[in-house]
Amino acid sequence: MSSRLTRIVGSSIVKKQAMAITGLLLCGFLVTHLAGNFLIIYSADAFNQYAYALTSNPLIYVAEAGLAALFLGHIGMAIKLTLENHKARPQKYYMKKPTGRGSTFASSTMPYTGMITLIFLVIHLINFKFGPLYMTTVDGVEMRDLYRTVVEYFASPLNVLWYIIAMVALGIHLSHGVWSAFQSLGFNHPSYTPTLRMASKAFAVLIVVGYSSLPIYCYLIQGGH
Ligand code: HEM
Repeated sequence: MSSRLTRIVGSSIVKKQAMAITGLLLCGFLVTHLAGNFLIIYSADAFNQYAYALTSNPLIYVAEAGLAALFLGHIGMAIKLTLENHKARPQKYYMKKPTGRGSTFASSTMPYTGMITLIFLVIHLINFKFGPLYMTTVDGVEMRDLYRTVVEYFASPLNVLWYIIAMVALGIHLSHGVWSAFQSLGFNHPSYTPTLRMASKAFAVLIVVGYSSLPIYCYLIQGGH
């Protein structure tokens, strides 16, 4: 192998490992965000107090910067790797690849499901984080009524449907991504690779069902639809 080729292979492995680590950390965010959002079902006050506790802590800026760096790093690396793959392969061969050996629907649609998730995220932040600002008072403390912002948004069945579609895309992305991340980090052995594959799929299902249940719940509690 020429030294140039070694360099290229080496750097693409590093990129894959960086994608794996950022992707797995983002999965950690998904789990904590889901757990926090489930307070919506517990009570409006509990959810608002939770959001208030997070946003009123000065460390939130550090956490948000870290989260933004993870998303940007993951997306940037994905774009670079996809472009490199395009360059490295003749067009015809590339077109045929998705049906090739070892590829699945989830693996061959990673750029598309990733893009849907990114579009979802931008719309999500516009509607919630930077969405309608209502205020409420809980235990004598004035805070943002984020519960009302969220519940109102899901009064529209179209918004509920969009969330479910986006969550299914995210689930497809995760079902391949989590397993693939472990592969990139060197966890590859016949004795546990099938278990990792299954665990990836189970995680993806948990995320899809968990995140889809909240818009459906918010829609249903508004009665009479
Ligand atoms: C039913 C589904 C979801 C609900 C109800 C929900 C709810 C919320 C709410 C209310 C906020 C605003 C928090 C604040 O400003 O204090 C928020 C922020 C955010 N959400 Fe979600 N979310 C959902 C799904 C997702 C998913 C699937 C992702 C990732 C793909 C995500 C990523 C984020 C991010 C990155 C923020 C900004 C966090 C920050 O700046 O501190 N959310 N979400």
